[in-house]
Amino acid sequence: MHRVSRRAVLAGGLAASASLGHAVPLLAADQAEQPLKDIASARGIRYGSTAMASQLLAGDSFTDLLVREVAALVPENEMKWLHMSTAPFQADYRVADCLVDFAAAHGLLCRGHNLLWYWSTPKWFKELPDRETARTAMLRRVTDMVSRYRGRIDSWDVVNEPVDPANDRTDHLRADVFLRQVGPEYLSLAYSAARAADPQARLVLNECGVEYDTPDMDRKRAAVLDLLENMRERRIPIDALGIQAHLSVRRYPFSEQKLRDYLRRAAAMGLEIQITELDCTDELAPPDVATRDRMVADEYRRFLDVVLDEPAVKMVMTWGLSDRYSWIVRHEDNPEERRRDGTEERPLPFDRDLQRKPAWYALAEAFARAPTRERGSRREHSTADAGRVML
Ligand code: XIL
Repeated sequence: MHRVSRRAVLAGGLAASASLGHAVPLLAADQAEQPLKDIASARGIRYGSTAMASQLLAGDSFTDLLVREVAALVPENEMKWLHMSTAPFQADYRVADCLVDFAAAHGLLCRGHNLLWYWSTPKWFKELPDRETARTAMLRRVTDMVSRYRGRIDSWDVVNEPVDPANDRTDHLRADVFLRQVGPEYLSLAYSAARAADPQARLVLNECGVEYDTPDMDRKRAAVLDLLENMRERRIPIDALGIQAHLSVRRYPFSEQKLRDYLRRAAAMGLEIQITELDCTDELAPPDVATRDRMVADEYRRFLDVVLDEPAVKMVMTWGLSDRYSWIVRHEDNPEERRRDGTEERPLPFDRDLQRKPAWYALAEAFARAPTRERGSRREHSTADAGRVML
């Protein structure tokens, strides 16, 4: 950030905030003109977004906006196994390559999302007849992907949403296709294979449903921490915890303390924390757009003020940049999170016309007041990996 006088800070911040109805001026005059990536990176935080190849290759004003605002990119669907593979042991890398090439051409970090997710697994894998073949297929998937993009992916979501406290297993693993087809050792096999294929990529466990204060989310947080501790003890290579952060206005109670404790305990295990899929549904907000946008912005602000206070949080990705392209607006999310009045949802920092919304200012202000952390580089070889992995 450039040096500015306190008066300029107040005047500029007031100008930026007053139009949005904020009581407290927070952005410096020059920050209000900066892209989110610069405001974040001044604090050592990487800010990025998801996008689809079709949205980027258009080369239109949306592409320009994305390149201006973000420092990191994550493919929305194109790297998911289901999207890449229609027949046993076959994969089509063309669209995923486009996104990785786009990121490299524009100097963006690239996240890999994801190697294994029960929700997005090809039918042929679910139908494999025996454990041995399933194990080989799963390992082939992990190794082929990670080696193909070796050196070009900053962080891999190795397993997406592996935890389900509801099914009473002591390891808290979801009773999903990997547990059924490979067995509980699928987790250590996948992480070890990913580490071997690109030792410098950060390996992430990405989970949803931990952001609010409900009994289900209490159980989920406890189960995730338990699993992470268990992975540490068994020397399964893992570098980061991903928090999806699909927020909703007015849907659930929020506990600052519970969220802080969750982050603290993950950080105490030496893990980096990444906010991987931040967005916010507004189905319970009134129809008036100004009110709704303010409520969505307040939800972003409340969440980010807590998570950015934790220095282990070094990356924030929104699940899209503009309401023009959002899975919420496309109604690919949960049916109960859709607006009933027929008006379009407004979940992201820019509106459909690529204009900044109050949510943009909420992100910018949260970055601006976050404590500065050490800038993360690609992971170093760490001694935490030494020793034999226990399956
Ligand atoms: C979503 C995509 O945004 C949609 O386009 C697709 O139909 C379903 O998947 N958690 C995740 C993401 O980890 O991969 C999901 O993305 C959203 C929930």
